[in-house]
Amino acid sequence: MYRSWLVKLTSRARFSTICLHGGQEPDPSTGAIITPIYQTSTYVQEALGKHKGFEYGRTQNPTRMALERNIAAIEGGKAGFAFASGMAAIGAIATLLKSGDHVVVSDNTYGGTFRLFDKVLQRYQLTFSYVDTSDLDATGRAFTSATRILFVETPTNPVMRLTDLRAAADLAHRHGVRLVVDNTFASPYVQRPIEFGADIVTHSTTKYLNGHSDSIGGIVVAQRDDDIEWLRFVQNAEGAILGPFDSWLVLRGTKTLALRMQQHNATGLALAEFLDAHPKVKKVFYPGLPSHPHYELAQRQMRGFGGMLAFDLGSLEAARRLLNGVRLHALAESLGGVETLISHPATMTHASVPPERRAAIGITDGMVRISAGLEDLDDLKEDLSQALDAV
Ligand SMILES: Cc1ncc(COP(=O)(O)O)c(C=O)c1O
Repeated sequence: MYRSWLVKLTSRARFSTICLHGGQEPDPSTGAIITPIYQTSTYVQEALGKHKGFEYGRTQNPTRMALERNIAAIEGGKAGFAFASGMAAIGAIATLLKSGDHVVVSDNTYGGTFRLFDKVLQRYQLTFSYVDTSDLDATGRAFTSATRILFVETPTNPVMRLTDLRAAADLAHRHGVRLVVDNTFASPYVQRPIEFGADIVTHSTTKYLNGHSDSIGGIVVAQRDDDIEWLRFVQNAEGAILGPFDSWLVLRGTKTLALRMQQHNATGLALAEFLDAHPKVKKVFYPGLPSHPHYELAQRQMRGFGGMLAFDLGSLEAARRLLNGVRLHALAESLGGVETLISHPATMTHASVPPERRAAIGITDGMVRISAGLEDLDDLKEDLSQALDAV
């Protein structure tokens, strides 16, 4: 995959090389190897109508554009657009819709995405059907003549159900529908939806892409020329852009994405196996365990099984004891950072999801979620062990 802006890369460049160099070139004015933070709102023009292609900071910013090229290359897409948050990115994708359009959505989508669709976008005569997209027959039955987007998350949060991306892309395209994949949970190291036929990939860069828990951001990577043209227009028209400093932070993050993900994968699997063998744990949700219902698909579609796992302790009280007992695991929302985070989906990330929907998805009060970080595995296991003793 050679593009003119991949200055140092050949068409054979592999994933970690693309992460490091994709979309970036030494700064033209100094040769600085790292793309500078162009902290400027406007650009001086040489004469009327004569400029270097940069007019105003909302419309063009070299740091943001380097990040957009970088993540587009990492996801194997044609163009990227960076936004102020993952939700702003999903909001921009929604502008591809017109009133009367219908969207089929993974029933277990991120709570904030559900809130945007259910509480905001429904006011604009858009309709949404929530289905278990791991069941493609059910997904197909949810399509109507008004369906324009199939919006999928895989694995889902926190019950880790998988959707077959290639089959989902084929299904969507047979209906003339775009497949949009929120790839936040897996990261492009683990899976690259465009390779399976997705039309648009989105991320909360807040998570694995930045990876250091110090920035909020979002990205949309698109393939179709009409989508690219519209998203470029909307990014400028609505203006929810990612600022230069945050763009620089995420660019720094993607340089180590491959290395970090290898460790997230290894620690995620090891913690899942440890918890699976623990007598106080009722059930573990992790696609890398042979007992997982989509283990075979996970092996086909994912490179490693990711750093996210969940487990059920049977009751809210047991979950509370564990969460109050851990010392190294930080009790916090979010995921994908270098630190291991632990959370309680029912009262934290999924609190805005009505209890009956939570129950239908399989999110119980005893469920605990872990985002495996990069600490020493033995320290993490010891911490969980001592907290489980008190359960
Ligand atoms: C899967 C997924 N998509 C989107 C978002 C929204 O991202 P942000 O918090 O950056 O707006 C999140 C945030 O947790 C998420 O987990």
